Amino acid sequence: MPTDDLLQATGKALPVTQAAPAKINLTLHVTGRRDDGYHLLDSLVVFADVGDVVHLSEGPLSLSISGPFAAGLAADADNLCLRAARLAGVEVAIALEKNLPVASGIGGGSADAAAVLRALGANPARPESLGADVPVCLAGRPVRMRGLGEILDPVPTLPPLALVLVNPGKGLSTPAVFRAMTRRDNPAMPDLPEFRDTAALVDFLQTCRNDLEAPAISLLPEIATCLDALRDSGALLARMSGSGATCFGIFADPAAARAAAQALARPQWWVVASGLAPARPLG
Ligand code: C5P
Repeated sequence: MPTDDLLQATGKALPVTQAAPAKINLTLHVTGRRDDGYHLLDSLVVFADVGDVVHLSEGPLSLSISGPFAAGLAADADNLCLRAARLAGVEVAIALEKNLPVASGIGGGSADAAAVLRALGANPARPESLGADVPVCLAGRPVRMRGLGEILDPVPTLPPLALVLVNPGKGLSTPAVFRAMTRRDNPAMPDLPEFRDTAALVDFLQTCRNDLEAPAISLLPEIATCLDALRDSGALLARMSGSGATCFGIFADPAAARAAAQALARPQWWVVASGLAPARPLG
């Protein structure tokens, strides 16, 4: 569809800028595997107030990448931003500001693809065909994610969270992490209660897991170093997100998170203090 037609149909105008916030799996239970090799997940997902940014302007279809992590990513036809625009059927020039480490368990390509779809006002039938995390990134609000990533259910209101994200500066292959699992029929996440405050959320999270953490550590032991460092700097809870290698710590308040982020700075590590992104409205 010509850009003008779609944009007129959706009420969007170019140029447009859209945030692609980092996705964080506060829990990630792997509850089974289907015959086609894909895994059944049960995950509490939230979004941080740090992320990539996509800028869309008049076509033809193209992609340029800037930002601190631009070097880790090719602007080729397989790039999820271009695949998202092709799925939407729109010719558009995309400029991606890559602020998040690549292949790091916090949404990356899926977050960028979802941002392109959102910026275009496009609503394709099967966004998950771009990647298992695209539906949750399109939702852009705290949800319980199940199935392969396409079943999304609302969750009780979460308290504000003071987070520190730490990445050891090395990427991990998601399929390799899934392959390294020794057990795939793990229990589902317990039902979510109402959360009075951060302590109540942390108490609940302590009863949950990321089942990909141990296999990821077996491939990249530095993840355990990141988790230990987060705990040593005062995190109430430290866990890996997604298939890694990015880890998050939950701190008592933003000042504690900022102090920890300063203390955690190391050469090669990406460390950032963050809150939660404002929830996108339902619908
Ligand atoms: O869908 P996406 O390309 O993000 O998935 C990357 C890889 O992660 C898949 O090829 C698959 O090996 C693994 N995966 C899985 N089960 C899921 C999601 C992803 O096994 N629910």
